[in-house]
Amino acid sequence: MTETAAGGRRLLIRDLEQVATPQARNTPPLRGDPLADVEVLEDAYVLCVDGRIEDVGRMRQLPPLDGEVVELDGGGCCAIPGLVDCHTHSCFAGDRVEEFAVRAGGATYEELHAAGGGILSTVRATRAAGEDGLREAVRVHRDWMLQAGTTTFEAKSGYGLDRETELASLRAIRTAGGVPTFLGAHAVPPEVNDPDAYIEFLIAEVLADAAELAEAADAFVERGAFTPEQARRYLVAAADAGLRLRLHGDQFTELGAVDLAIELGAASVDHLEATSEQGVQALAQSDVTAVLLPASALFLGRPMPPGRTLVDAGAAIALATDFNPGSAFCESLPLVCSLACTQLRLSPAEALSACTVNAAAVLQRADRKGRLAPGYDADIVLLGAPDWRYLAYHLGGDVVAAVVKDGAPLWRR
Ligand code: NIG
Ligand code: FE
Repeated sequence: MTETAAGGRRLLIRDLEQVATPQARNTPPLRGDPLADVEVLEDAYVLCVDGRIEDVGRMRQLPPLDGEVVELDGGGCCAIPGLVDCHTHSCFAGDRVEEFAVRAGGATYEELHAAGGGILSTVRATRAAGEDGLREAVRVHRDWMLQAGTTTFEAKSGYGLDRETELASLRAIRTAGGVPTFLGAHAVPPEVNDPDAYIEFLIAEVLADAAELAEAADAFVERGAFTPEQARRYLVAAADAGLRLRLHGDQFTELGAVDLAIELGAASVDHLEATSEQGVQALAQSDVTAVLLPASALFLGRPMPPGRTLVDAGAAIALATDFNPGSAFCESLPLVCSLACTQLRLSPAEALSACTVNAAAVLQRADRKGRLAPGYDADIVLLGAPDWRYLAYHLGGDVVAAVVKDGAPLWRR
């Protein structure tokens, strides 16, 4: 890209059919009516300077631009903010295609997990990959996500379950530009086989170094994983080490993860396929964001999380992929938006806000990410469509035509 002393590094995306962005009046995370408030400009442009958005406006009001400007033709396209995936397990090696085929034959995810497959089979492959292998895996997965329109991604450790591989995972995520979350409490490793002893090991032997690398800690509260009491010990220690908190809760059973998330002031509680009306009401009264992962529910043939009920009750929600090899081999937030509209009964506008500005808020980046407005990072997705709602409407379609990150065109279909 061209640098000029006068105007900085400038990119003009011109002749866009629409620019669609969550509005910037309310403080994120958005809830209720503001969640559905997407502003749309027709026949528009976006001007980026030095990696930031300088201006968004109508073509007929485009001011004369002196000096060097790189132009990107937005004809036939709509611009939306770069998508933010606030929940992925993209640091893994190997695959679970055998397990997928066995599940297609009728076995359940929980049965395979209890039999030492599932997460633990990915742990074996991830430990064997070494740090270079993990770095390469996260890079490959990041590029898949980018081509689906994700310009900011969170990624969890949790397939190492030993000191060396957990820390190597967090380093690999950082190297690839991801937002790292320490998910040491994902499963009990086979060599320990005692959840309490494993939690003590994580706190005593791994947490201090993990806290230097990660921004948040996460724990899987579930039958066969960790109880709320075990998760509390781990998360309290993580908060003391300076980490923000996340939780995997109510995926299969409602064990109290929502109450724990509220008690600890967690940024989010994620999954919620099994959350009752009482849990919905508790979340609605709280500052905890409900992160919904409909691709995971679909992939496992499980009930969908109560998206409409949560939004109507006033809860803050975000949408994410849960991208991982076992329960959601899916890196596409556009597909997640389709599921949000068809299965969770959200509107396209609510879905867009949930995987841009609200997901950015979960990652504490809503001051810079998730909106197309002056001052925000110039992370922009061009949809090859006449209307931005094709994001959700085109089920499984190749809707992402181009991706701009930090003001630089990174990928074009
Ligand atoms: O969010 N539920 C726990 N963890 C992941 C799945 C991990 C796996 O199956 O490998 C999830 O669905
Ligand atoms: Fe997950």
